[in-house]
Amino acid sequence: MAQNTLTITDNRTGETYEVPVEYDTIRAMDLRQIKVQQDDFGMMSYDPAFKNTVSTKSTITYIDGAKGILRYRGYPIEQLAEQSNYLEVAYLILNGELPTQEQYDEWEYVILHHTFVHESTKQLMQAFRHDAHPMGMFISTIAAMSTFYPESRDVLDPDTRLKQIIRLVAKVPTVAAFSYRHSRGLPYVYPDNDLSYTGNFLNMLDNMRQGKYEPDPVLERALDVLFILHADHEQNCGTATMRVIGSSHSDPYSAMAGAAAALYGPLHGGANEAVLRMLLEIGDVKNVPEFMKGVKNRERLLMGFGHRVYKNYDPRAKIIKKIADEVFEVTGRSPLLDIALELERIALEDDFFVSRNLYPNVDFYSGIIYQAMRFPIAMFPVLFAIPRTIGWLSQWVEMLNDPEQKIARPRQIYLGYDERDYVPMSER
Ligand code: CMC
Repeated sequence: MAQNTLTITDNRTGETYEVPVEYDTIRAMDLRQIKVQQDDFGMMSYDPAFKNTVSTKSTITYIDGAKGILRYRGYPIEQLAEQSNYLEVAYLILNGELPTQEQYDEWEYVILHHTFVHESTKQLMQAFRHDAHPMGMFISTIAAMSTFYPESRDVLDPDTRLKQIIRLVAKVPTVAAFSYRHSRGLPYVYPDNDLSYTGNFLNMLDNMRQGKYEPDPVLERALDVLFILHADHEQNCGTATMRVIGSSHSDPYSAMAGAAAALYGPLHGGANEAVLRMLLEIGDVKNVPEFMKGVKNRERLLMGFGHRVYKNYDPRAKIIKKIADEVFEVTGRSPLLDIALELERIALEDDFFVSRNLYPNVDFYSGIIYQAMRFPIAMFPVLFAIPRTIGWLSQWVEMLNDPEQKIARPRQIYLGYDERDYVPMSER
């Protein structure tokens, strides 16, 4: 009868060890008993970039990278994008269940009534250079917010945690919009709590004080769906950073600033910005073959392609492609779309990409939509960070409630010098 164990033979000693297997996984600590000498430290596993290391059990987001499946709390992303809205999805991700009408009304009210930031936060943002990157402003401002809410350091108290989660989800659009207005040299627009989450965000970006702002319903809904698609994505670089920083019991503002900093990189949430810059550089469909030659010669990456987990079409990219058509009906079709479609067409046929399972990811088409909606390119990573806030915070709570988690602290293989004596400077 099959057993849920793994038998390991150490050929250095001839010893055999049997370790339990659970969820197709062995515990790295079970390797520690494997030793040559009794006083050895014991065996470890080496996994740079965590390519095959599970760091947590989670009940939030499920991804099947081979099949291109993404679910939040069991609900397929396609159904949520079609039938739900961002705040409902945020409630689901945080609490594990869809809200009743009463729960939803209360959640929506409380979020929409915490959107204002402290006036000193505004002044702090005004101190940035006129051409500061909005993501740099966003990260710094989120970190600075911990100084406004010192009680947030009580991370083990669930009520205190919930208060910070509400504040962060409510205020990130305001911080993001202020960073945009700053980069344009425009006066900051205060939130309008009568509008929806995304409607208010558009108001704070666009309103030139021409009376009550009325968001375009198509753009408001498109942005809401984009927010749903970006809300969580299990243990990616930014979320892993949130958990690692949070594991030392830092306050959530400091931890989230770290997560947002990880997201900023062009290999992660900064890829949407990098895709747009790449498309602008290619400039014309006729330049696509030459560009692809450079990618295959490994001179550069095809930004917006490839994923650590998805080895199939990213389901978020499929949904975004559909939204693009609706947005273009309002904004007009982006000429960059033809370049993107040609890149995709070639990549899906070319052996270089096919053999490596490289498909468009979430960032490939999102930038084209953002650009059509007239967001400056530098705002794109910020547009990723706003909805990801709920994912980071829900994963942070899950980590704090997990009795198996401790301060994150990986091991290393030391390959440096053995002990040597200090040499005075005059003798070097
Ligand atoms: N263009 C060209 N070649 C690529 C690309 C790409 N975009 N992505 C991966 N490859 C190649 C890579 O060179 C490697 O080839 P080989 O095995 O011959 O050395 C192979 O494909 C496997 O790639 P990898 O770098 O080992 O894969 P990874 O899991 O370490 O990296 C990735 C994943 C997303 C960082 C990478 O695919 C990449 O840099 N893509 C471009 C940036 C991008 O679009 N990032 C957004 C990710 S989705 C949003 C998010 O959740 O953050």
